[in-house]
Amino acid sequence: MYNVTLINGDGIGPEISDAVVKILDAAGLKINWDLQTAGADVAEKEGAPLPGRVLDSIRKNKVALKAPVTTPIGKGFRSVNVQLRRELDLFANLRPSKNLPGVKTPFNNVDLVVVRENTEDLYAGIENKISDDRVEGIKLITREGSTRICRWAFDYAVKNNRSEVCAVTKANICKLSDGLFLDCFREVSKEYPDIAPREILVDNLCMQLVQNPSQFDVLVLPNLYGDIVSDLCAGLIGGLGVAQGANIGLDCAVFEPVHGSAPDIKGKNIANPTALLLSAIEMTKHLGEFEIAKKLEDALFKTLRDGRALTKDLGGNAKTTEFRDEIIKNLG
Ligand code: NAI
Repeated sequence: MYNVTLINGDGIGPEISDAVVKILDAAGLKINWDLQTAGADVAEKEGAPLPGRVLDSIRKNKVALKAPVTTPIGKGFRSVNVQLRRELDLFANLRPSKNLPGVKTPFNNVDLVVVRENTEDLYAGIENKISDDRVEGIKLITREGSTRICRWAFDYAVKNNRSEVCAVTKANICKLSDGLFLDCFREVSKEYPDIAPREILVDNLCMQLVQNPSQFDVLVLPNLYGDIVSDLCAGLIGGLGVAQGANIGLDCAVFEPVHGSAPDIKGKNIANPTALLLSAIEMTKHLGEFEIAKKLEDALFKTLRDGRALTKDLGGNAKTTEFRDEIIKNLG
């Protein structure tokens, strides 16, 4: 029996978490879920959107599955997601993008991995109001933060039989900040003679990704570029409904999809739980339960390939719960 923190989020979060918890249970994964709520409703009741109990639970259990949490735009509390990653020092955000069986996209050979730095850059939240008409936001890049994410990306490449790591920056313009990130990348790359280092500017990367994504292997990026590019990569493999992710630190790991709380489809029972399920499958591997992970993957892939019960974002008209039940049926 594993103790795992479950943050079921808001928006579509509760619907997709409910589906995924039921699927994991049906696959025989024995988890004692420690349900922890966070977000706007919690802020109203408890005074903070990310109360200490949530962090304590993850620190104790070391592993969490997290559904998306809404962040107010322009004003209101700081993002629960950003806070969580910083408080637990989950410095590596891993977002693999690989074609899925049965999910039709313009490309059929995408297999790349976005490694996003998760704690620095404009997400450090250092914003100053100079006057009513002038504000500044600090892009924080450190040698320590850049070196550890680049090393993590190369280590990931070695462990996962990848052959290239590509640093993505705008170092031609942000000469000091992205320049430092690139310097760190070049230094770290010398420790990995078997992995080819590559460098690309982020604007060129975006163009290349939509023309010829199969040329890329592992990408390592500062926080903001990583956030934007990983949504683009989600689009390459069928959209946000199928894009998985994980936030990893030295002590804890929080598995969560790339997508947000999708308020536009909240409560309609049409959200696709695949992204959260794929994140949960990675979590299952992280727990060392490889057989169950394989069983889950096979059932999900069969469901996608058969195409009988796809959700709307994948061109079908199945409800979240119907898609869930089809996966459970395919677990055999
Ligand atoms: P979003 O990812 O929630 O939605 C973008 C589009 O993708 C929407 O049309 C939505 O319906 C669709 N979509 C997303 N997930 C889907 C799924 N599983 N199945 C089917 N369709 C899906 O992005 P948006 O609208 O920019 O953000 C909404 C809220 O989520 C914001 O408050 C944002 O801050 C928050 N957010 C939270 C994240 C997290 O908790 N890690 C990550 C990204 C955004």
